[in-house]
Amino acid sequence: MDKNFYITTPIYYPSAKPHMGHAYSSIVSDFFARLKKIQGYDVFFLTGTDEHGQKIQRAAESNGKDPIKFCDEISKTFKDLCKTLNLSNNDFIRTTEGRHKKSVENLWNILENKKEIYLSKYSGWYSVSDEAFYADDEIEEVNGSKICKISGSKVEWLEEESYFFKLSKWQSSLLKFYEDNPEFILPETRKNEVISFVKSGLKDLSISRKSFSWGIKVPNNDDHVIYVWLDALTNYLSALNYPNVNDNLYKKFWPASVHIIGKDILRFHAIYWPAFLLAADIEPPKRVYGHGWILSGDEKMSKSKGNILDPIEIIDKYGLDPLRYYLLKEVSFGNDGNISNEKLENCINSDLANNYGNLCQRVISFCEKNIGLKVPDVDKFNNDDVEILNIFKINFENLKNQIDKQNINFYLNFIVDQLFKANKYFNDQEPWKKKTDIKRLNTIVYVALEIIRKISILLYPIIPESSLKALHIFNISEKDIDFETILDNNFLNKGDKINKIQILFNKIT
Ligand code: MSP
Repeated sequence: MDKNFYITTPIYYPSAKPHMGHAYSSIVSDFFARLKKIQGYDVFFLTGTDEHGQKIQRAAESNGKDPIKFCDEISKTFKDLCKTLNLSNNDFIRTTEGRHKKSVENLWNILENKKEIYLSKYSGWYSVSDEAFYADDEIEEVNGSKICKISGSKVEWLEEESYFFKLSKWQSSLLKFYEDNPEFILPETRKNEVISFVKSGLKDLSISRKSFSWGIKVPNNDDHVIYVWLDALTNYLSALNYPNVNDNLYKKFWPASVHIIGKDILRFHAIYWPAFLLAADIEPPKRVYGHGWILSGDEKMSKSKGNILDPIEIIDKYGLDPLRYYLLKEVSFGNDGNISNEKLENCINSDLANNYGNLCQRVISFCEKNIGLKVPDVDKFNNDDVEILNIFKINFENLKNQIDKQNINFYLNFIVDQLFKANKYFNDQEPWKKKTDIKRLNTIVYVALEIIRKISILLYPIIPESSLKALHIFNISEKDIDFETILDNNFLNKGDKINKIQILFNKIT
């Protein structure tokens, strides 16, 4: 069985410092990367910055900076954010790196040699903010300005010589590809959008620009730079050392398992990207998942609205794990969601402090007082014990299947359910009343410890730092975490030393 897993975030425009939307895509991707790692997969997790194109050139100009200096500075803030978010990424790619240029030029040459590219003239609408060409019927006039109906961004009229990719030729192959790979685009609703867009007819795509210079030059024609999306999408190959197709990374990890992206850039990933790859005779990625937006209030964040949410501010105030937990649990994956201090505080208090933190605290301190800091000896499990311990076994295959469909909501709901059940079990069993029946008291504590262990393993991809603190109770360290061990009801060995736990989450009053 293929136990390699390659996951990517979008590469972010370093036109301004990162915001909550970027943090969201990265945290979600990190969740899957960590989850697959503890399932025994060899994981390659890629993120980075998308540094060419007119948008970046203009941003650099308006800051009075040389584009590469400008990119160096802002790309660093994205790289630093990886650490702040505790991402487990294996690489951070910048499209201004030599390895990437080589890879893009190679892809271009292949497409040209295969006669998939021709020179002509583009005239039509272009949005610099989206770096996208739009058709007439996608444009409307608002207060005297031409706006793209889909993204709401301003468009400008463009007329210039341009190379084109024969996208129209790939329409039926794409439709067949979607049919043969029904889970290539998830969630399902987004897949339907893409399919109806493709069915409505694809035009050839302009893939070079002549009126500015910040980009990778078209091989053999210095007057043109390669369209920034053809450039950017290729990053997913460059990081695996493409064009060296015999390189181990490439052999092991291509095609990518899943590109995690926001719904705003689905067209590029689900239409243009597989079309370029099919045309170049390269296998397309296995999946593209288009998640929703993090709204500020009810609106998408934007600089002009002044409603940008800064992840660093929230982390400074509440800590990283609460933010990671909130984004994964409270934003229904695939849909839009929002974040406010009040909602975040409620979530910290109810799920993290009262439910998880409290469970760990009370079981360990009860164990310390009544048994000592060691794993108790188990007598026989009764029906209540078996029932609560076996939930993990019963749901194991389903959990794995749901995760493989990126069903974060299912995974989180399962955990929250088990937390409630675990606290209820400890209350109902009343071990404090069993001081004369030490065998039963020991067994109850053993079961509670096993459940803390299992839940902490499940929580690891969501709140790695806090879960590791909890797993330290059992001297389990990061490299030892194994998802399969949630099946084991007798993992802990009697007499083994256990450790006290620090307070995991402070209640916010
Ligand atoms: N550079 C391109 C992507 C190239 S990938 C080959 C780009 N960059 S971006 O910085 O504008 O946005 C990248 C991604 O950030 C979005 O697709 C989305 O995943 C995430 N988000 C940006 N704003 C967002 C929200 N408000 N909410 C959630 N995610 C959003 O597009």
